[in-house]
Amino acid sequence: MVESSKVQKILYGGDYNPEQWPEDIWEEDMRLFKEAHIDIVTLNVFSWAQLQPSEDTYDFSKLDKIMELVQKNGLKVCMATSTAAHPAWMARKYPDILRTEKNGVKRKFGSRHNSCPNSPTYRKYASKLVEKLAERYKDYDNIVCWHISNEFGGECYCENCEKRFRSWVKDKYKTIEEVNRAWNMAFWGHTLYDFEDIVTPDLRSEEFEWDGIRTNFQGISLDYARFNSDSLLECFLLEKEILKKYTPDIPVTTNLMGMYKPLDYQKWAEYMDFVSWDNYPTYNAKPYEPALSHDLMRGCKNGKPFALMEQTPGVTNWHLYCSLKRPGVMRLYSYQAMAHGADTVMFFQMRRSIGACEKYHSAVIDHVGTSDTRVFREVSALGKELETIGSSILGARSKAEIAIVFDWDNWRAIDWSAGPSRLLNYCDQIKKYYYALWRNHYPVDIISVKDDLSKYKLVIAPMLYMCKKGYDQTIRSFVENGGTFVTTTFSGYVDDNDLVVTGGYPGKLKDILGIWVEELDALPPEEANSFIYKGTEYPAQVLCDVLHLRSANELAKYEKDFYAGAPVITVNAFGAGKAYYFATQSNDDFYKEFLSDICSECGVQPLLKCDEDLEVTERSNSNGDFLFVLNHSQEKKEFVLPYDACNLVTGTEYFKGKEIKISGKDAMILIKK
Ligand code: GLA
Ligand code: ZN
Repeated sequence: MVESSKVQKILYGGDYNPEQWPEDIWEEDMRLFKEAHIDIVTLNVFSWAQLQPSEDTYDFSKLDKIMELVQKNGLKVCMATSTAAHPAWMARKYPDILRTEKNGVKRKFGSRHNSCPNSPTYRKYASKLVEKLAERYKDYDNIVCWHISNEFGGECYCENCEKRFRSWVKDKYKTIEEVNRAWNMAFWGHTLYDFEDIVTPDLRSEEFEWDGIRTNFQGISLDYARFNSDSLLECFLLEKEILKKYTPDIPVTTNLMGMYKPLDYQKWAEYMDFVSWDNYPTYNAKPYEPALSHDLMRGCKNGKPFALMEQTPGVTNWHLYCSLKRPGVMRLYSYQAMAHGADTVMFFQMRRSIGACEKYHSAVIDHVGTSDTRVFREVSALGKELETIGSSILGARSKAEIAIVFDWDNWRAIDWSAGPSRLLNYCDQIKKYYYALWRNHYPVDIISVKDDLSKYKLVIAPMLYMCKKGYDQTIRSFVENGGTFVTTTFSGYVDDNDLVVTGGYPGKLKDILGIWVEELDALPPEEANSFIYKGTEYPAQVLCDVLHLRSANELAKYEKDFYAGAPVITVNAFGAGKAYYFATQSNDDFYKEFLSDICSECGVQPLLKCDEDLEVTERSNSNGDFLFVLNHSQEKKEFVLPYDACNLVTGTEYFKGKEIKISGKDAMILIKK
C-alpha cells in the first residue's frame, strides 16, 4: 500500500483529534503513544470549521502546532483534508451546499458527510482548502499519505444534482430516443421528449409508493446510482489533482467501507493510489464476514495490499449493542486484516472524546486517561509485536486460484428488482459461497467483471443476474481455455440497463452452461423443495428454476412438486473446461460439499487441512511465503504443517508433520522454510 522509503513496517496508530482537547493534554498523548508503540496518526479529519472560520479567513495555527508536536515525537502522519463536514457559516450563506434527501427534504446544517457533491460552493471551497493544506504542509517528510474527506457516501437529490444528472445522461446516451430505449420508457407511457423531462428518481417521482427497496424503473435507478457514485468520485478527484500538484510522491487514498452499495468501489479504486478501509464487524459477525470484506477491498485494487484505516480497539458506539471486544480479539482482528492483505493496523480513535455520539466509542486512551486499562495493554502488546514483524510482510500478496465475482451494479439491480422474491440477497449469496471455501481453507480473490480470469482455475459468479456487455465472452473464453465456472439461479437475465435478454434464461450464458431455464419458482420462507446430492438430501429454497438440459449433464434433481425429476445441478463440458449451474439456493453443508468436490476436480488444494475454527491464509513476497493461522475459537487447537516453518514473532521453529498447538483467539504468522 503506502510503498515508500518512509515506511519500513506495518504502520500502527489511528485517528487522533487533539483539537478536541486542551493543549496541556497533548504531551501526555505523546508519552502514551510511545508506550503503545504507535507510529502514525491520522490528523485533521473533521477540522474544516477550525481551519476556515469564515469565508475569507483561514487559520492553521492549531494544526501547525500539532504537526510540530507529532513530528518532534517521530510520528508519521496520514493527513486528512477535512472536507467531510462543511462549516456552519457556509451552510448559512450558501444553501446550495446542503443535501436534499430522497424524500425531497432539504437538509439544514448538521451531522457530517452533509455536502451536495454537485454544489459549486462545496467544490470551490473544498478545492481552496485542499490547496492551502497542500501548499502549507508539503515539505513535512513525515506525511506518508493523504486521506481525502472521510467515508464518502450518501446521496443527494437536489436541483443541482438533477441538472447534472441530465447532462450525465446526455453524455452517456446522446439522444433522448436512446434514453427511452435504455430505460424502457414505453412502459406506463413514460416516454421522454426532451432531456429537460429527466428528474431525479426519488420518493417524489419514480420511487413514489414503493417500499423504499424496490423501484419502478430499475434502469433509471441504476443510472442515478452510477451518477451519484461518479459525482462523489469527481469530488475525490478534484482534491487528488490538487494534492498531486504539490506532492506528486505522496500517495492519496480515502477510507472505504467494505460492502457499501452507494459507491462502486471497484471503479473508485482505479483512481486511488491505494485502498484503505474501515472495519467494524458487529458483535455477532461470523469470523468469515470481515475476512470476505478484506478480500473484497483487496480485490478492488487487483490484489495490492491495502490499509486498515480504522477499527475499534474495544467497543463501537453505533452498533445495536456495544459489546466489548473480548481479550485477544483486537489482536486477532488485526492479524486477520494483515492475513488478507493489510499493511497497516489503525484505530478509530486514539483518545476517547467526551461529548456527542462517539463518547462511547472506545479508544487507545480511554476516559480514565491512563495506560492502566486492558485495551491499552492489548494495544501496546500488539504494537511491540508489529515492531518485531518489521518490514518482512510488507507488499506480500495472496496467490488464490479461486475467484468469486462481485459486481456493484448487479447488487443494486437485484435489490431493486420488483420480483421474483423479497428473500433475494446478493451479498448473502456471495457470503454463502465464500464461507464454503473459507471454512475449508481455500484462498479466494473477490474480483470485478473487469478483471482478468486467466490466472484462476475456478471462477464462481453467484446470482450473476446482470451479465454486462462482453462478460459472457470473458466467461466463454475462460471456460474454453480449461477454466471451471460456477453460476446459479437468477443469472444472465439482464443487460447493463436491466433489460431482459430475450431467447430464454440465462441469456448469453446458455451455451456455456448447456441449459435453458423456462420458469422460476419463488418459495416463501416456510417452504422448501429438496434434492439429493451424493446420497444426502438438501433443501432447495428461495428460488427454484425449472430448466431443460441442452448439452449439460444432470448431477441432481428436484424431489418434489410438479417439477420433481427436473435437473437442479448441472455440469456442461465446454471447450477444455466445465460450467456448473446450481438452480436453487441451499444450506451451508451443501455449499461446502459441492465446492470441495469442484475444487478437487479442478486441482485446487486448500492451504491446510485443519479445524474449521482456524482461519488460514497465505501472503508471499520476495522475503518468503507467510502462512497466517488464526484461531477464532476459545479453545486450544492443533494443526500440522507439511513443511518446516518458523514463527515470525517468537522465532519458534516447527518441523514438518509435527503437531502445532494454537491457543484460543491466538494468531500466528509462520514463515515457510
Ligand atoms: C467511521 C468514521 C469515523 C468514526 C467511526 C466510528 O468509520 O470514519 O469518523 O465515526 O466510524 O466507528
Ligand atoms: Zn445535490
